[in-house]
Amino acid sequence: MRVVSTSSLPIDLAAAIPTATVEVPGTWVGIARTNLEAADALVCLLLDRIDASVLARSPKLRVIANCAVGYDNIDLDAATRAGVCVTNTPDVLTEATAELAFALMLAAARHIAEGDRLVRSRQWQGWRLDQLIGIQLAGKTLGVIGLGRIGRAVARRGEAFGMRVISANRDPLGIDRVFAEADVVSLHCPLTPATRHLVNAARLATMKPTAILVNTARGGCIDDRALVTALERGQIFAAALDVFANEPEIDERFYDCPRLVLAPHIGSATTEARTQMARLCAEAVVDALAGKRPANLVNPEVWPEVWRG
Ligand code: GLV
Repeated sequence: MRVVSTSSLPIDLAAAIPTATVEVPGTWVGIARTNLEAADALVCLLLDRIDASVLARSPKLRVIANCAVGYDNIDLDAATRAGVCVTNTPDVLTEATAELAFALMLAAARHIAEGDRLVRSRQWQGWRLDQLIGIQLAGKTLGVIGLGRIGRAVARRGEAFGMRVISANRDPLGIDRVFAEADVVSLHCPLTPATRHLVNAARLATMKPTAILVNTARGGCIDDRALVTALERGQIFAAALDVFANEPEIDERFYDCPRLVLAPHIGSATTEARTQMARLCAEAVVDALAGKRPANLVNPEVWPEVWRG
């Protein structure tokens, strides 16, 4: 059996998958430059777009272990049609991502990035009564869009901060209500056709002028143009983004946008989370190649098909 990875991971993949020959590059090489001809298993990152053309050059592939919880980088239908299992890495990054969402929420509410820039500019003239006045979270309403594992972990933190928590999943009216009522809206939904541009001009227009928007989910959930307009016009207080529609490209208008905190997609970037994500990928490969249904199979309908022989 042969396992191909598009990137090195924080664990020794070869040691973690002793049942196969494992090819690991020194750094991320990308799916386009990965030879899949003889691969029985693929370990990939969310940067790797796995579509029908990639599957077409993977004749032996049985499993794709995506080192991320989101799997919108993979054409799941095409993988299922090709009889390939797809796995993700849930749970182990929940706390890390919830912590980052909260860090961004606090950064936006309290001008942390702006304050850092002010001090570094050497222009800070000392304490002032009206300097960088922010918004207190305690007593406010936190609106969670997508009450999955990460959404629930953010909700728990909100309660610990003395916030009232409201939430919505798929119901458009429920989502409208969250945007209109919440002081902070935090996105925790997957990117699907239904959630693309879930944050649009109409919803932003219903938000409070003191509201904060946080996105640690996927960039495509927000209509960038509408967000920049809302921030420029002061329709909302601030926004904080960890994810972008066309990463690593950033919408040019974001660079000079007021009251916008930007982070480089680091939701799961802790030693704890990334190490466990890598372990889950290795386990998924070991299990799938041994004919055992992997724990985090996201296209379960494929399973009888894969092992029909
Ligand atoms: C990160 O964005 C992930 O989906 O794991």
